[in-house]
Amino acid sequence: MQQVRADFPILDRLVNGKRLAYLDSSATTQKPSQVIDAISDYYRVYNSNVHRGAHTLAAEATIAYEDARTKIAQFIGAGSSNEVVFTKGTTNGMNLISYGWGLNRLREGDRILLTVMEHHANVVPWQIIAKHTGAELVYLELDEDYRVDLSNLDRFVDDRLKIISVSGMSNVTGTIGPVPQLVEAARSVGALMIVDAAQSVPHLPTNVAEIGADLLVFSAHKMLGPTGIGAMWGRPEILEEMDPAEGGGEMITDVRLYESRWAPVPHKFEAGTPPIAQAVGFGAAIDYLDKLGMEAVRRHEVAITRYALDRLSEVPDLRVVGPTDLSARGGTISFELGDIHPHDVATILDQEGVAVRAGHHCAKPLMRYLEVPATARASFYVYTTEEDIDQLVTGLYRARDLFGLA
Ligand SMILES: Cc1ncc(COP(=O)(O)O)c(C=O)c1O
Repeated sequence: MQQVRADFPILDRLVNGKRLAYLDSSATTQKPSQVIDAISDYYRVYNSNVHRGAHTLAAEATIAYEDARTKIAQFIGAGSSNEVVFTKGTTNGMNLISYGWGLNRLREGDRILLTVMEHHANVVPWQIIAKHTGAELVYLELDEDYRVDLSNLDRFVDDRLKIISVSGMSNVTGTIGPVPQLVEAARSVGALMIVDAAQSVPHLPTNVAEIGADLLVFSAHKMLGPTGIGAMWGRPEILEEMDPAEGGGEMITDVRLYESRWAPVPHKFEAGTPPIAQAVGFGAAIDYLDKLGMEAVRRHEVAITRYALDRLSEVPDLRVVGPTDLSARGGTISFELGDIHPHDVATILDQEGVAVRAGHHCAKPLMRYLEVPATARASFYVYTTEEDIDQLVTGLYRARDLFGLA
């Protein structure tokens, strides 16, 4: 993967006079020239609205937009491109589901099962829908190695259980979610199974036909693509049944004064002018990942995570907040360094050219559960090298010195 770095122009820049070690890929990934060029090409050569115009530019833009949908469908093993809905991102996808499915189907006493490691995007939409409907949120906890503890699962699996929604991979601990076990549980009682795949689709080979979930949402910007776009995959019969949560242009076949007819899936969920340049960029990102191969992406991340965990274990007073077992985790490492506040750690690392994130990572329930106010987090992707990790470790020793840790 060393040669991959050359495709990412931003990685050549200096930060505070130092080589940039970008270790914040869980928040958003950098973009290769291929993605930047595809977006620029769209604006320079065939910028137009989609699905409406009879002119050449509109036809070219529509083809590129729909091609991107096809690439995404193939990338995740969907049966057809009609199973892929463009969204604004994971958060928007989850809200489309909670409103489009949950609002009209959940009743008082129904249960929505989540885990304590969920991102706010997979907590707050359900809290809102629970308030509207009287449904109840219930949570699976974590075991001592930060994996989802399934020992209590049976307690929740009965005819009250209507929805299970779980992260494919935690953006804090890196924990891979127990999707197969939860799919089985959902199946056994006819509950809807949703995967927040914001961190799993970018990092693990994904085949929705094999996973067996009902709905899966993810964001382009966490997999080399632009911000402002994501995808929601759904089983055809679920998408057919689900209500559109947003109304407007593009999502109808007819509008009368007092009622309208929805466009067929997937368009019924895509109200308004869609993010066209972003879809083109998303398609280019998929091409890039396809060329690398997702098995190779995962292998690289396991190798770099192994290296990082080894190197971090040398740093005195450093505590990793996440699984030690590489097969149970991805390349996101949250940590604490003695009693130095994670924001101070991140600030000192920034002076060394190392970009990490510090805070609650949009997972406040998890922070409370783990009884940590915040963590620093280093997260990796296809362009991450051992040199980046070495630079991180050097920066951590500098933080120790500055804060007088013995
Ligand atoms: C696990 C997880 N779910 C959901 C999201 C929300 O993604 P977005 O902000 O792209 O909507 C994120 C982003 O960090 C995430 O890591």
